[in-house]
Amino acid sequence: MGRLNNLISILDLDRDDIDLILNTASKMEDVAIQRSTELSDKIMACLFFEASTRTRLSFESAMLRLGGKVLGFADVVTTSAGGKGETLADTIRTVEQYADVIVIRHPLDGSARVAAEFSRIPIINAGSGAEEHPTQALLDLYSIKKIKGKIDGLTISLCGDLKYGRTVHSLGMALSKYNVKIMLAAPPPLRMKPAIVKEMKRIGIEVTEVDSVEEAIRDVDVVYMTRIQKERFPDIREYDAVKGKFRISTEELELMRDDTVILHPLPRVDEIDPIVDDSHHAKYFNQVYNGVITRMAILKLILE
Ligand code: CP
Repeated sequence: MGRLNNLISILDLDRDDIDLILNTASKMEDVAIQRSTELSDKIMACLFFEASTRTRLSFESAMLRLGGKVLGFADVVTTSAGGKGETLADTIRTVEQYADVIVIRHPLDGSARVAAEFSRIPIINAGSGAEEHPTQALLDLYSIKKIKGKIDGLTISLCGDLKYGRTVHSLGMALSKYNVKIMLAAPPPLRMKPAIVKEMKRIGIEVTEVDSVEEAIRDVDVVYMTRIQKERFPDIREYDAVKGKFRISTEELELMRDDTVILHPLPRVDEIDPIVDDSHHAKYFNQVYNGVITRMAILKLILE
């Protein structure tokens, strides 16, 4: 991908890199339907040390649509890392001999960076702890651009668990490369990391922090809702104190502008009432398909 071999953090990409990915993704719309053989000599290994539906299957679908082959695991218990205590470094030094690119999801912050240090083939971060999920941010940007026709000039609310949600960390940093206004909406214990807010403001982004859904959804172009990340709370009592606090249902829809779009990286639990799915605001299942398109672009740019 230009000067990049790996995709570890959204901070590794400048705006030109991101625009190249988004423009390549746009060209993948037809390829995704017609299929191609352009990566027929390539093998992708998916190493998922943590649960996933969309990220793993969309990477596999993307690779298959480009004619490539896939291998990997979705349950660490069946591997020597899970069953025998093999290190991440040794797992990477083994799998690099079977594939041309490694897509890795791991519960620890910094895991993808460690994998890249030990790998001679490209590493793509498919989610590293509570830290980052850069390919999700890219498909989110692609979705915003596809639906709204632009990114510059928009006002975007990032809502829900901004502390443990890795998608909002990557998306917030990615949006900071554009001329946008950002609203950060979370229950007080789940506010965005101060370092990310400080960096957004240093770049010159207008950032507003609020602590209710009602404030976050009025007069914005995009509401990006997220799940409270129960599995990352060190104390379940802290989760119980915030669960169910941020929710979009019919009452909230009535507060929105007619052209406001609701996105969500999914999975959802209870933060978007299923009744919202039938609303014209709801675009999160369109967003799922954009994951295939964007990951086709990422694989093509890294592997060709
Ligand atoms: N959005 C996302 O990362 O979904 P999965 O956890 O299902 O991969």
